Amino acid sequence: QRVAVLISGRGSNMAALVEAAKAPGYPGAIVAVIADRADAAGLETARAEGIDAVAVPRKGYPDKAAHEAAVIAAIEASGADIVCLAGYMRLLSADFVDRFKGRMINIHPSLLPLFPGLETHRRAIEAGVRIHGATVHFVTFEMDGGPIIAQAAVPVETGDTPDSLSARVLQAEHALYPRALAMVLRGAVRMSGEKAVFADAAE
Ligand code: GRF
Repeated sequence: QRVAVLISGRGSNMAALVEAAKAPGYPGAIVAVIADRADAAGLETARAEGIDAVAVPRKGYPDKAAHEAAVIAAIEASGADIVCLAGYMRLLSADFVDRFKGRMINIHPSLLPLFPGLETHRRAIEAGVRIHGATVHFVTFEMDGGPIIAQAAVPVETGDTPDSLSARVLQAEHALYPRALAMVLRGAVRMSGEKAVFADAAE
């Protein structure tokens, strides 16, 4: 199956997906990387891997709807079955979300439903939690609120700063995202209504 990855910056999660998908038997291939910024570092990383990588900068379009239409066109041109958001820093419209319902997933650096939104590592430290982590979930209209596919827990160490904690969580993200994507590609989990349904569980 074909996978498109949407990024806004560094693209380390995208690179982890690309790396994992090279393994024999991995159930999908990363066929396109699309960024909403021309200077997203991940675009170069993807091109170096021989993957089609395009920038669709927001400022090239008169409004959000026109920009989204261009991003959707790029996804559809790639023939992708599944879309992975990997540090894509834009809220999607209901139309965009609906179009890829059950076929679009996101990685978020917290154990959702704790700490949706930005600056999760600073907020986790301030809240005093001793376990933090990352979540891969189906994308719904509620930001960081869709059905959970998989999570990884990471300890908060004494003296952690947002940067040190973020680095530890990012490592966990790089293992988690390829595993969660493979679950979706293999049909081990799918979205039904507003819930995730796992193949080994009765609906
Ligand atoms: C990751 O922490 C991801 O969970 C969050 O944004 C960051 C993106 O990093 N949504 P990268 O671009 O994948 O390196």
